[in-house]
Amino acid sequence: MIPESFIQELLNRVDVVEVVDKKVQLKKAGANFVACCPFHKEKTPSFSVSPSKQFYHCFGCGAHGSAISFLIEYDGMTFVEAVNELANAAGLKVPNEQTINPKAVKEHQKLEQVMQSANIFFQKQLRQSKKAIDYLKARGLTGEIAKEFGIGYAPEGWANLEKHIPNCDTSDLINAGLAQKNEQGKLYDRFRDRIIFPIINEKKEVIGFGGRVINPEDTPKYYNSPETPLFQKSYELYGLINARKAIREKNYVLVVEGYMDVVALAQHGVKNAVATLGTATTQFHIKKLMRYTQEVVFCFDGDHAGKEAAWRALNNALEALNDNLNLKFLFLPNNHDPDSYIREHPKENFEEMVEASLPFSEYLIKYLTQNNDLSSQEKKVKLLNEVEPILKKINASKLKLLLRKKIATLLELNSQDMNQIFGAATSNKASVQKNIFLANRSQKRKFCLLMLLEPSSIRQEDSILFDSDSLDDELGRAIIGIAKDLGEKRTANIMFGLESRFDKNVISEINHQLGSFDMNLDLKEELAALSLNLQQKGSSKTNLSKLNLLKGKSISSLSAEERNFLQNMRKKK
Ligand code: UTP
Ligand code: MN
Repeated sequence: MIPESFIQELLNRVDVVEVVDKKVQLKKAGANFVACCPFHKEKTPSFSVSPSKQFYHCFGCGAHGSAISFLIEYDGMTFVEAVNELANAAGLKVPNEQTINPKAVKEHQKLEQVMQSANIFFQKQLRQSKKAIDYLKARGLTGEIAKEFGIGYAPEGWANLEKHIPNCDTSDLINAGLAQKNEQGKLYDRFRDRIIFPIINEKKEVIGFGGRVINPEDTPKYYNSPETPLFQKSYELYGLINARKAIREKNYVLVVEGYMDVVALAQHGVKNAVATLGTATTQFHIKKLMRYTQEVVFCFDGDHAGKEAAWRALNNALEALNDNLNLKFLFLPNNHDPDSYIREHPKENFEEMVEASLPFSEYLIKYLTQNNDLSSQEKKVKLLNEVEPILKKINASKLKLLLRKKIATLLELNSQDMNQIFGAATSNKASVQKNIFLANRSQKRKFCLLMLLEPSSIRQEDSILFDSDSLDDELGRAIIGIAKDLGEKRTANIMFGLESRFDKNVISEINHQLGSFDMNLDLKEELAALSLNLQQKGSSKTNLSKLNLLKGKSISSLSAEERNFLQNMRKKK
């Protein structure tokens, strides 16, 4: 058995568009991609692949599924073969009870153990080093904060870890990125005479370290763990484990550039900050953060490097964008980074800047027009050229449309011009599909299907609508439950979760119903209306049973509240 968690991870990493496009040539149409359906004969395309939902479906024959089911259906692979193929392409190892992973799991545990021991050693060394403590104090940090972030000190000397970490092999130290061999083959510690910032993942494992010099003349200023089986920079964020609670409470996250920025902000009461690890922000960073909040505020230094980093972050974020994600850009005053700013100004000033930070599209336009006054044809064309690849990468359909409008206004173009330049904004394929299931299904089943099609709108509080043990109620509860457990809520992931919980027949029925659904409806609106409808039904049902109960009692035994209720019910009739 391949664990469900692995399949979910795999579905998060692979892109169904890429997988399908290898076999069937796709054409962009609005937010989706279309082609003639590979599963039935047709002349006009009714096969559509959605990057945001990570599933494909055919309006014609109802074929429907994820990247995994595509390989099963199209290439005739078995489930395990399809998973293996996708995992290979994504660079993931498939955990398979016999072959793996006792070994890989053991290796992981061993390296984590070594990192853990090194971390304890560094923290102990900090307590004994006046030089290191003085350095941190001079930077405004208290012992309490140092402890909260597990800050340590790697002492001078070349072979401390070998001596101080009990029962560890040379190869473990090397594989964990803690030591290296010199040209003579002699082992030496990577971190020497440096302040140590442990990088801790969401499972509370120590997966890497950052080390800062104390003497200003030493270089490089920061030294980080290399990529190891435990540590992949493009996926990890410094400080996330400490910031999680505050991110949820404040409902936004600050992304800063340095270890010290995170720690200094926390020292001054701004606890919802994380840092990238000497790399640009990736779409994986953003997706990870989206599990906690839909608002991500990038915070950059006001200097030239900060501005470059911001532009890079924007470009890397494009593919992770969706219509619910709120990306913002904050530029600090010149010569400041978050650390220096928060030490010199009240926290409130900083928070005001967060409030005033630039939303994605404003920053985008501002950047593209900063050196371009659009005063000539050529300059206008330049802007169009620059914005074209950006628009191409954005999957969020509403954001994209509004951005196009903004650009059109700026260049004094009408929507026809825009269509000519960039192609139609949305799929102009008029749906001729009859909305089969909307006519025939129970309201609760409709609700389930809508949740599956629009997973970003699933609300935990709707679980009270599914209170019986009928199949549809069980389905509803399962969908909401799976969505709660998932990092990213996408159709493909939720469908996969259902597959292990429901009978094959039920799953194929649902797939069929999903496949015959009119995707041109406003799914969110349908969902909201249906939720309201079901809520009202639910409450009138409870009222009715309450009424029957009270009717059996004598008037004199009723409380004031109960009498009121009876009176109201009579009025309603
Ligand atoms: P900065 O150079 O902006 O330093 O690097 P900083 O955060 O202001 O650090 P302090 O305040 O002088 O201590 C930002 C981040 O870039 C990476 C580190 O992750 C650092 O936190 N970096 C920087 C390196 O990896 N190596 C370096 O030599 C410098
Ligand atoms: Mn700094």
